[in-house]
Amino acid sequence: MTVCEAPGKVYLFGEHAVVYGEPAVPAAIERRATVTAEPREDDHVRVEAEDLSLDGFTVEYAGGTGDRPDVDVPRPLVEAAMGYVDAAVEQARDAADAPDAGFDITVESDIPLGAGLGSSAAVVVAGIDAATRALGEPLDRRELADRAYRAEFEVQDGQASRADTFCSTMGGAVRVEGDDCEPIDAPNLPFVVGFDGGAGDTGELVAGVRALREEHEFAADTVESVGDLVRAGEGLLADADPESDPEPALLAELGELMDFNHGLLAALGVSARSLDAMVWAARDAGAHGAKLTGAGGGGCIVALDESDATETALSFTQGCEEAFRAELATEGVRVVEP
Ligand code: MEV
Repeated sequence: MTVCEAPGKVYLFGEHAVVYGEPAVPAAIERRATVTAEPREDDHVRVEAEDLSLDGFTVEYAGGTGDRPDVDVPRPLVEAAMGYVDAAVEQARDAADAPDAGFDITVESDIPLGAGLGSSAAVVVAGIDAATRALGEPLDRRELADRAYRAEFEVQDGQASRADTFCSTMGGAVRVEGDDCEPIDAPNLPFVVGFDGGAGDTGELVAGVRALREEHEFAADTVESVGDLVRAGEGLLADADPESDPEPALLAELGELMDFNHGLLAALGVSARSLDAMVWAARDAGAHGAKLTGAGGGGCIVALDESDATETALSFTQGCEEAFRAELATEGVRVVEP
């Protein structure tokens, strides 16, 4: 039995624009998906999922992955969860040259599903790592990140960047621009997350931005402007001391860019009333800046605040179901000793 866990992430800057080749800077956070893989004698895959914002379900299917289980939870969520596990198993079989390998898989996650915190990437990364290790063929991190990206790309119908999967694999803050992915130094930023209890449909949201961008030059310019602000943000991080607490001036400048980024994402149509309400609650509470994180449409915002004020304000904000401080996860995917 092999157990691996991989972190979720927040986007400091650059979601959506990263799909069109602009840079993005996500940062891994200490909320993890844990996947257990136990090889089987036959070629079946049995999946038990807990806490994927579902009531939990167990399914077993053979070989091909077209069949879908008859379970009493919302179908799109099951489809999403199953799709990512299927794709991870396929990547592991391919990497280990074991096309008929069967597994008992257990997924546990404290990352809300589809809420902008990289739940699917974490499941895929931990899943491929656990399954390849269980077959005695562990992958190096670059190959693991690449295969996790391919799995997400497939499930999301070609609408995925490398950002979520690379960040979950490596941990810490990373910079992604097209196929170019590198870990970067960043101080431990005081992230506060607000979660509206909902989820957005990443594929639909990405398709919406694509359509706007194709239709209007000003939407294409908006995407490019996101790239410009990400480059400005990267410059700030590069000048900061990663070992020290971030200076107030750095937080103020990063926060200003986050506010700007949220405005541009809203212009691209991916915010939501609940996300805007949480962003404004954070700003009113004195956060240095706040923005939605991930695909949007619902889910989470991330704010910068070293005091407790934002977390407290969010917990009293109508539409905010959960507010929490998110620590930077400096370690990416890792093996959990049983
Ligand atoms: C989703 O977490 C982030 C998007 O930029 C899509 C992607 O990068 O794959 C919206």
